[in-house]
Amino acid sequence: MVKIAENIYWTGYVDWSLRNFHGYSTPSGSTYNAYLIFDEQPTLIKTVKHYGFEEMLSRIKEVIEPSKIKYIISNHTEMDHSGSIGKMLKLCPGAQIVCSPKGQEGLKRHFKENWNFKIVNSGDTLNIGRRNLKFFLMPMVHWPDSMATYSIEDNILFPNDAFGQHYASSERFADCIGIDVVVKEATKYYANIVMPYGGQVIKALEALKDIKLDTICPSHGLIWRRKEDIEKIVSLYKKLANYESDRSVVVIYDTMWHSTQMMAQKLYELIDREGISVKLYNLQDTNISDIIAEIISAKVVMVGSPILNNKILPNMGAFLTYLKGLKPKNRYAFTFGSYGWAKIGFKELEDSLKEAGMELLAEGRYANYIPDDTELDNLKDIVIKIKNLLAS
Ligand code: FEO
Repeated sequence: MVKIAENIYWTGYVDWSLRNFHGYSTPSGSTYNAYLIFDEQPTLIKTVKHYGFEEMLSRIKEVIEPSKIKYIISNHTEMDHSGSIGKMLKLCPGAQIVCSPKGQEGLKRHFKENWNFKIVNSGDTLNIGRRNLKFFLMPMVHWPDSMATYSIEDNILFPNDAFGQHYASSERFADCIGIDVVVKEATKYYANIVMPYGGQVIKALEALKDIKLDTICPSHGLIWRRKEDIEKIVSLYKKLANYESDRSVVVIYDTMWHSTQMMAQKLYELIDREGISVKLYNLQDTNISDIIAEIISAKVVMVGSPILNNKILPNMGAFLTYLKGLKPKNRYAFTFGSYGWAKIGFKELEDSLKEAGMELLAEGRYANYIPDDTELDNLKDIVIKIKNLLAS
């Protein structure tokens, strides 16, 4: 265990081996953070993924005999946090499960058990001895059941997925790692997990704005404890929840015989030559979750594919399906690609970007078989449009 504050301990599980979280690439692994509050009514805030149970249990036993636990707070039903509740309850059968109304529904559906639930709503408090815990429902950050728990006497917030990062480490605090690394991981996490719910994030931040935050203990990754780091992550969430972007461009493509790649490369060079921040990604080499982490910062998203059997390439189809679910707002898009004998497949490219909430910057540019020098040079028109857009 690791002491977070007086009588508050981290008792989670570090998942060093995790490399894929349902499609989200996790090259640095992750953690499932459980927290134990040792008070008159000992309280466990969340558990861990089922295979981390024994490790969590050994940490809990460093502090307390597990049978003494009186409350298990389930801030969120998803099984990376609630997956060990069943096993835990066998060791503390008298414990109550504290959760939101939707949390109760979700836990019943997952475990098919009628546990001793204590249902809480926003503003409710729970006295556990010297401490009072206050609850804030945060629907859709990340599921309808999500909520945050706040220890009033400690000024510690346990916001579950919010402010988290998929990052395994032997360190527990963000300031022990290097804040830029943690902020980058938190941005990727937000982009892939929370982005569709900007409106709900704004409501959650509004509900939390008057509470004093000395420490933020998310459910994944590092804990925020320095004042300046807490300000940084909260301010980042405000920016991302408002779908603000930087004056930058990201070029994403797939390619078959390198024609679309030639166009992507030319766009990249022309944009770069204008002094505009631009990044270039081939879908064959880059996981879509890493590309989403770039899109969240970019004002302009350029997407290119060749045509195969009247359709865009399958990699591009998967990427667009993911993008349509995440719906980055306030972005402009541009489409390009190459084709042999029919251009009809590009409509899917254009429609998908519109469905993802983006505005098409101009008509797409599509080259027959292999783009010639004139077609490549003509991409300058698009770059001028981007330059003007970003200058406005
Ligand atoms: Fe980390 Fe939505 O669970």
